[in-house]
Amino acid sequence: MSNSGEAVPRTAMGSANRLKLGLFGANCSSGRAVTTVPERWSGSWPDCVRLAQMADLAGIEFMLPIGRWKGYGGTTDYQGSTFETVTWACGLLAKTERLIVFGTVHAPLIAPLIAAKEFVTADHIGEGRFGLNLVCGWNEGEFEMFGATLRDHEARYAYAQEWLDIIKLAWSPQEDFDFGGRFFRLKGVRAKPKPYGGTRPLIMNAGASTTGQAFAIRNCDALFSNVSRGISFEETVQHVTKVKGQAREHGREIDVYTVGVVTCRPTAREAEEYHRHCILEHADWEAVDNILAMKNITPQTHGADEFRRLREHQANGVGGLPLVGDPDMVANGLTQLAEAGLTGIAVSFINYLDELPYFCAEVLRRLAHAGLREKPGSI
Ligand SMILES: Cc1cc2nc3c(=O)[nH]c(=O)nc-3n(C[C@H](O)[C@H](O)[C@H](O)COP(=O)(O)O)c2cc1C
Repeated sequence: MSNSGEAVPRTAMGSANRLKLGLFGANCSSGRAVTTVPERWSGSWPDCVRLAQMADLAGIEFMLPIGRWKGYGGTTDYQGSTFETVTWACGLLAKTERLIVFGTVHAPLIAPLIAAKEFVTADHIGEGRFGLNLVCGWNEGEFEMFGATLRDHEARYAYAQEWLDIIKLAWSPQEDFDFGGRFFRLKGVRAKPKPYGGTRPLIMNAGASTTGQAFAIRNCDALFSNVSRGISFEETVQHVTKVKGQAREHGREIDVYTVGVVTCRPTAREAEEYHRHCILEHADWEAVDNILAMKNITPQTHGADEFRRLREHQANGVGGLPLVGDPDMVANGLTQLAEAGLTGIAVSFINYLDELPYFCAEVLRRLAHAGLREKPGSI
C-alpha cells in the first residue's frame, strides 16, 4: 500500500528496455491506415491472436487498442468493425505470457464500479498485465448511440477525475467506502478481489489539451502525445521535460510516449513507394473527409493547402509519426525519439502480421545494437 492508501502502481511497462514498443489499433478493421489496399488489416480475432503471440515472442511490450464504437464510412467503412477493448484484452492476455494489453475505455459510457471489476478480472487473467487507457470521448455520433451527451471539454475531464478516483478506491486495499462528488454519490462500496499481486494496473491517457495533459500528469503513469512531422526534436525534448517536471511537482513520475506508423522495406525507395501506394494513391478519401468533417476541418475552415496537408496526415494512420524507410532509417527515427526523452512508441502497420517479422528482424536488431532494447526473440 502506498502512503495515499492507493494500491501500489506498477512502474515498468513490461521490460527494462530504454525504448518500449507497442502495437496500436489492431482491434479495428483497417487498423490505423485509411486505405483501400486489399491487404489492409482485417482486425479479425484469429489475426489479433496471432499478432499478440508474435509480439509476445518478439519482446514487444504492449498492445494498445482503440476505443471505437462507430466506423467512419467511406468505401472501406474505415474502423467499422471493432472489438470492445476490455474483452479483447482478456482474450489476448489469456493467450500470451509477457505482453501488457490495454483496454481503452470511455469513462462516460460505463459505470466506474463495473469498469473497475472488469479491469480486475482482466488483470487476474493476465497475472498483472492489464493496462488502462482512459479516454473521455470526442465523437458525438458515438455518444448518441449510447443515448449519452458529450459534456463540454472541461466537464469531461472533471467527470473522468471522479470516475478514476472511484476506480482507484475500488482497487485500493481499503474495504467499504462512500464517495460523494459532483457526478457520483456512492454508498457502502465494496469491490473484491483487488488487482493482481498487490499492485495496480498501469494507467495512461492521451490528452492533448492543457486540461487533458494536466489530467494525465495528476493521475496517470503514461501520457501519449502526438509528436508528428512538423514538431522539432527540441520541441519534443521541451514537451517531455515539461510534462515530467510538472508530474514531479505533484510528487509523481510520468513517462511520455508517442504513436507512429511504420513502413519499413529493404530500401528507402521501396518503402516510399509502398507508403505512397497505400496512403496517397489508394487512400479511402471519403472516410478521411468524414473524419475531418467530424473535427470541423474542411477547405472552408482551414484553406485549401492546409486542408490537403491535414488530409494526407489523416490518411497516414490518423495522424501518427510516419517512420518510412529502410531499416537503418526507421531505427534512426526511433533512436531519436529515445534521445528526445520519450519512453516509447505505439506503432501501426498496414498489415501488422505481414510486416512485423521484418520489422523485428531488422529494426529491433538495430535497436538492440544501439543499446535501446534487448535482442528480439525469434518469431
Ligand atoms: C495514442 C492515442 C490514443 C487514443 N485513443 C483514443 C480512443 O481509442 N478513443 C477516443 O475516443 N479517443 C482516443 N484518443 C484521443 C485522446 O484521448 C484525446 O481525447 C485527444 O488526444 C484530444 O485531447 P483532449 O481530450 O485533451 O482535447 C487517443 C489519442 C491518442 C494520441
